[in-house]
This record gives sequence, C-alpha cells and structure tokens, in this order.
Amino acid sequence: MSAAGGAAEPASRHPTGAARTDTPLSGFPQAGAPRFESIDGVRRGLAGVSYLADEGIAGAVYLADRLAKPVLVEGPAGTGKTELAKSVARLTGSRLIRLQCYEGLDESKALYEWNYKKQLLRIQAGSGSEWQALEEDIFSEEFLLARPLLDAIRAPDPVVLLIDEVDRVELETEALLLEILSEYQVSIPELGTVRATQIPLVFLTSNNTRELSEALKRRCLYLHIDYPQLERERAIVETRVPGISASLADQVARIVRSLRTLDLKKHPSVSETLDWARTLVLLGVESVDAEQARDTLHILLKYRSDIERAAKELAGVDPAG
Ligand SMILES: Nc1ncnc2c1ncn2[C@@H]1O[C@H](COP(=O)(O)OP(=O)(O)OP(=O)(O)O)[C@@H](O)[C@H]1O
Ligand SMILES: [Mg+2]
Repeated sequence: MSAAGGAAEPASRHPTGAARTDTPLSGFPQAGAPRFESIDGVRRGLAGVSYLADEGIAGAVYLADRLAKPVLVEGPAGTGKTELAKSVARLTGSRLIRLQCYEGLDESKALYEWNYKKQLLRIQAGSGSEWQALEEDIFSEEFLLARPLLDAIRAPDPVVLLIDEVDRVELETEALLLEILSEYQVSIPELGTVRATQIPLVFLTSNNTRELSEALKRRCLYLHIDYPQLERERAIVETRVPGISASLADQVARIVRSLRTLDLKKHPSVSETLDWARTLVLLGVESVDAEQARDTLHILLKYRSDIERAAKELAGVDPAG
C-alpha cells in the first residue's frame, strides 16, 4: 500500500475527526487501519495508477475509508466512474469484486444460490439418512454457490466491491443491497448471518437512468463525477494516450470542451476524447485543423445530427443559422 501515500497516521489524530472506533459496534466488523493518510495522498496515489482525480473525487474516496461507507458515484457516461473503483483497487492492492447490474438481476446471481443439482445428488446418495440430518447437510456451506456480494462480504483478503450500474436493477434487487451496505452482513435463512471480518471499500455507480431509493442513498456517500475541467482532461489525455504531444493533448481537450457547450444529443465523454486522441496520434496528426477534426468527428460523436452540428461549428458557421 505504499502508493497510498505512506504509513497512515493514527485515526485519533486525523483533522477531520472522522476516526474509526476501536471497539466494534455490535455485529459491525472491526475496521482495519485507515488506508489513506490524507485527501491529497489519495489524489497522488490515484495519479500513480493513471487515474487523475480532482479534490472532490479524492475526498470521497478518503471519507469512504474513514467513515466505512460505500460511495454512490453518479454522472454522465464515460466520465471515469467504473475506472475509479478499479483504480482504487489497484492503488490499495485489493482484489476487485465486480457485480455488473442488469435488468432482471436477482438474488441468486448477486448474492448466493443453493447448488440444487449437488443437493439432489446428495439426497439420492443418502436415501437411508434421517431427513433432519440430510437437510442440515444440504443447506451447509458445501452446497452454497457464493455470488459477488457474498464473496465480498466473506473475503479474507482486502477487496474493493464495485456494484456497477446499479440503476439498472429493479427496486427489489436494490433492497437486497441495504443490509450489506449498512451492516456489511448477509442473512442466509438456512445458515444464519454471515458478517464481514473487514470492511470492504464499496463503489456503486449509476448513470441515473432512474432515481435510486432514498434508503439506498442514505447509506452511501454521494459523488457526482462530471466532465473534467479543461486542465484535468488534458492531463488525462497525456496520461492515457502514449506518444501524444503536450500541444496535441491541449488542442484535443479544448476542442472537446467547446463541443460540450453545443446542444447535442450526447456530449463526448472522456473515453471518447481518449479514442479521438489515439486516432489522431495513429494518423500522425501533430496539430488538428478544422478539416481533420471534421473528418474524425465520428469517433467523438455517435449521432448523425450531432456530427453535422459539430462540423458546422468547427467550420465557424453558426449552427443555428
Ligand atoms: N479521471 C480519469 N483519469 C484517467 N482516465 C480516466 C479518467 N476518467 C475517465 N478515464 C478514462 O475513461 C474511460 C472510461 O471511463 P469509465 O468506463 O470508468 O466511465 P464510466 O463513467 O464508468 O462510464 P459508463 O457510465 O458508460 O459506464 C476509462 O477507461 C479511462 O481510460
Ligand atoms: Mg461504467
């Protein structure tokens, strides 16, 4: 964890006073040593793994650790929400456990399910056994198939849990998360309560396709990641696009920024900025002129009407006229 900015100071001395308790609350897993020494340490550590965070992002990660709370990350597509969780895992040397959400995701794919086939075989094999003994046996650990959420709770090693695109699941599945996110535990009726032995860092991402429940929001710290400021986007391009010159990175960031001021169906995201920059480097472009920009707009924009509008803008023609 050296990348996290050196040894962490004792929680009691931390200026925010957001110290962890030494005695665990009933059922609440005991917190380990703080992962980060300061907000700036998080920012520098993330830069070390090629993720350029601003103060708000670094602050949310720092507080998530100190307060032992999940972070709900919202914002437009392609602004680095998923990448943040991956980068924090890299920075802290943790295993990333990812639950990719989709419509129809249910408990059996998110949390756990019983291995019915194996249970059936066990029942057939032990037809002479007493039912009670058999029942205890088939609802034991050996017959349990753990899915990402249970995996994360039971992990003996440090983990970062990424619950990606949580806005895609139905409300009932969202409710499943509540116990895990506030208590770091899972109740399995046949087995009892499984409690985490350490508190994982948890990131939930959402593209805001629907409002999440108040109950879920209450359990999380909230982080909105918007399109980066010019300077940060330029730095992201320089970090992520090998072989790009500082002046081309600057031009790319400026043009993308100006396109984001237009009234488009879908503004270019950071990932599209990077694709565009890589394309220009591949084409051997040193400095983008309006024509080259127009010819490669389809890398940045994905709607014909947006491309036409942006092309007019780049040609200096009033798009409204
Ligand atoms: N702050 C950043 N530092 C470095 N790279 C970044 C940053 N933000 C975004 N990126 C780059 O943009 C890409 C897209 O980011 P990511 O997939 O995390 O977006 P997202 O917000 O999860 O998008 P979606 O909502 O579509 O899932 C990343 O692979 C990464 O290369
Ligand atoms: Mg994502």
